[in-house]
Amino acid sequence: MKKYPYVITISSEKGGVGKTTLATNLAIYLKALSEDLPVSVVSLDNHFTVDKMFAIKGQKTSGDVTDLLLETPGASLLHTGQYGVDYIPSSMALEDLRDSIKGTMVLSRLLATSEIPGILIIDTRPELNIFTQNALYAADRVIIPVKDTPSLENCRNIFALFEKKGLDKKSLSIIPCLIDARIKYQGPFKDHKSLLRAFAINRGYRCCEGFISKSPKVESLNTNPEGKIYPILTHARGTDVYSQYTQLGREILAEYSSVQQPRSFHFAQWMLSEEKRKADEFQFRLSRLKDSCLLCGSNLATESARNKTFYFETSDGGACGYLEDHCGSELLLSCLYDAQPNMAENDPLLLMFQETARESIYAMRPFSNGAGPCVEVRRFTIDGSPVQKKIQPLREYTDTALPQKKSTLYSFIFEALGESPGKLRDAFLLIYPTNPRRPEAILAEENYRRIAKMMQHLGQGSGAPIT
Ligand SMILES: Nc1ncnc2c1ncn2[C@@H]1O[C@H](COP(=O)(O)OP(=O)(O)OP(=O)(O)O)[C@@H](O)[C@H]1O
Ligand SMILES: [Mg+2]
Repeated sequence: MKKYPYVITISSEKGGVGKTTLATNLAIYLKALSEDLPVSVVSLDNHFTVDKMFAIKGQKTSGDVTDLLLETPGASLLHTGQYGVDYIPSSMALEDLRDSIKGTMVLSRLLATSEIPGILIIDTRPELNIFTQNALYAADRVIIPVKDTPSLENCRNIFALFEKKGLDKKSLSIIPCLIDARIKYQGPFKDHKSLLRAFAINRGYRCCEGFISKSPKVESLNTNPEGKIYPILTHARGTDVYSQYTQLGREILAEYSSVQQPRSFHFAQWMLSEEKRKADEFQFRLSRLKDSCLLCGSNLATESARNKTFYFETSDGGACGYLEDHCGSELLLSCLYDAQPNMAENDPLLLMFQETARESIYAMRPFSNGAGPCVEVRRFTIDGSPVQKKIQPLREYTDTALPQKKSTLYSFIFEALGESPGKLRDAFLLIYPTNPRRPEAILAEENYRRIAKMMQHLGQGSGAPIT
């Protein structure tokens, strides 16, 4: 059976509130409280606390958190660590990946297919950067340590992000951390943790049942001549923090056992259904394609047919298909540059155009003006910025030397948009260059989305660039 991790993200935009201490020690407590449960930790910060705490002396590591983000299966990056906790090594190069992480769902996807078992705890940087956002999006449970009112104020952004992404805010909970038990107040809130808790609840934030006290013993665990970081479980017995972590661990385990399937499982299911939808839609688009080139009639239906250089589609979905290389180039050349039809295969103008044709998108819209039927032909860059516009008369015969030969533009427009003899549908069409080695790739969701967007944009009659 496949494995799906239950993900706990520790996050706060405020620095020094105890995130890393919580992430690492919670992992140790969870493992100690439930020996058979696999527990692992990964840091999306660029320090090596996790490694210092869990790496076994002399252990050779292979792969780290950047590999996870570069699609290496998560389970293969898990290293057996101390205290029975597994870890994915940290990396200084994480920052270099910042721009390559597109969107907040990347980590969710990677964890859904990671095969990481049990509970995975993610430590984050004190900022809502793209890594943190991904860790928040992937989480079954987010724990936000707050130590004072400013850090509580900072939570607002995490809650706002959840709101924006339509995530369930019930998975967010605050834990008062680094609480100095010596501070006492007059009035309804006797101490710091009660005050923070009341503030949090007043703002609609959920709180963990417990809290974590500030303890000089805990503070000293990462300041020692050996440069080690010792766990609370083994080195701070007898402190309040020791039992507070036990309580928190129990709370988390109770929640974990109450969840039937973690978010990563549901994400994997969603990915499967998305793949199926994309495949069905791709097949549907393939099934609509015309069998032959509308201009020369050559058969383009077989997979081995070559020269499917251009793809066209009408805005009403009435016709779509490929245009053979020479036909498409000649059509566009004659429309945009008034070049003569029947050009030789090695005509320099044709060759030059064929080279640049792949960088452009074309739109054709028939209309009538005082001078009779015309076609507005527009050229756009591949990003959708308009670069050229021409109006061509829509005449059946244009070449006086060859009176029997129909104009290419006329044939094409009537084949694609003809309703009945001499009558056109009220629609326009787009022509896209294809990848000659895999022309059908233009119909794959990621590419086709651009066509749909352009259709919509031009359908609204906007001449502004597509963004
Ligand atoms: N319960 C505690 N009692 C006393 N000191 C603590 C406690 N928990 C953490 N600390 C200390 O507080 C400091 C900050 O903790 P930690 O590094 O875990 O915070 P952080 O939120 O991860 O910081 P950053 O935002 O810089 O990543 C550390 O020196 C740590 O040892
Ligand atoms: Mg930290």
